[in-house]
Amino acid sequence: MKQNSFPLPKSRQEIRSFEPYIPGKSIDEIKKKYNLKSVIKLASNENPLGSSKKIVKNINSIAKNIYRYPESSSLILRKKIAQRYNVKIEQVIIGCGTDELIEIIAKTYLSKEDNIVVSKHAFIRYKMSGELMGCSVIEVPMKNFTHDLYSMSGYVNNRTKIIFIANPNNPTGTYNTHKDILQFLSILFKKNFYPIVVIDEAYYEYAIREKNYADSLKLLKYYPNIIILRTFSKVYGLAGLRVGYGISRKEIISELDRVRPPFNVTSFGQYLASNAFEDTAHIKKSVNLVIREKEFLYQQLEIMGLNYVKTAGNFILVNVTPYRGKQIFLELLKLGIIVRAMDEYELPYHFRVTISTHKENIAFLNSLEKVLKKIQI
Ligand SMILES: Cc1ncc(COP(=O)(O)O)c(C=O)c1O
Repeated sequence: MKQNSFPLPKSRQEIRSFEPYIPGKSIDEIKKKYNLKSVIKLASNENPLGSSKKIVKNINSIAKNIYRYPESSSLILRKKIAQRYNVKIEQVIIGCGTDELIEIIAKTYLSKEDNIVVSKHAFIRYKMSGELMGCSVIEVPMKNFTHDLYSMSGYVNNRTKIIFIANPNNPTGTYNTHKDILQFLSILFKKNFYPIVVIDEAYYEYAIREKNYADSLKLLKYYPNIIILRTFSKVYGLAGLRVGYGISRKEIISELDRVRPPFNVTSFGQYLASNAFEDTAHIKKSVNLVIREKEFLYQQLEIMGLNYVKTAGNFILVNVTPYRGKQIFLELLKLGIIVRAMDEYELPYHFRVTISTHKENIAFLNSLEKVLKKIQI
């Protein structure tokens, strides 16, 4: 029998509407395709300064031992995180990126009869995690590109298992204040609903500079069914290593731990993330760069007559109406600038750009100006 006529088992119904993740072309592929000398990638909210230079100290001792499985629970890293945030080590879980933690949370809690509540335009992995488990996904419209928590609370019912709040949200960059979230939680209390509330703080280090940004660790004391998610992929500059962490009450972490694959974080991941966590000077420098450069980008986008959403993260959602974000993305690509079109987020007239170094931001702005001139003719 030929390979392609061999009977194919049916995949689960739930995953058939999933679009496989289509990664952007690599920098090398784009260079080749458009005959470019240099390409600037501003598509995935990585840290343009890279990771701390200090993290590779004694790396040989790790390299020597890679024939062994890694420490199963990422103990040293969990200890450091627990110490910094004044929580117990049993309250911390490490994932292969926060992406894995989102999936572990869904697998731990969701059955077909449950629902999850998310915002429209929220980080897409939440919705996908619910769909993966075959449960209903209640999508609530945003208000001014921000999670409308009051409205979301109205959709919570006795079948709601998880509410996902990205704070700040990717791709809109907006955030919810401490008061906003507190009010939301107190409505749940009043209604006698106690679902899991995931507060995804992938951009935490940037957002804590914002006025009244929610103090999620304090909220955890008030409402213990919160899971806080943070990552080493953004400001720590370790996206390629895939390390993220979650903090919650210990009973929830131990449930998640039943589902977590035993060796989900590599030895290098654990070691380098532990070292990166200590280099607070590098984090400060990286955040300062973004704070400075975002004002510059706002100013220049305004001069170009473009609307944008103010961001608490390291990226900006730019409105290019009447042009489609995808068209701008494709034209920028030809000039060696990679941004992210937003069709999958149902924002077809926007694109998202990562805030980078001054030099790269200028290159982006110059290219954007050229593209807009070209398509206006
Ligand atoms: C809001 C948000 N959460 C989670 C993630 C996943 O991050 P990682 O899996 O790299 O930790 C991202 C990545 O872009 C994000 O923007």
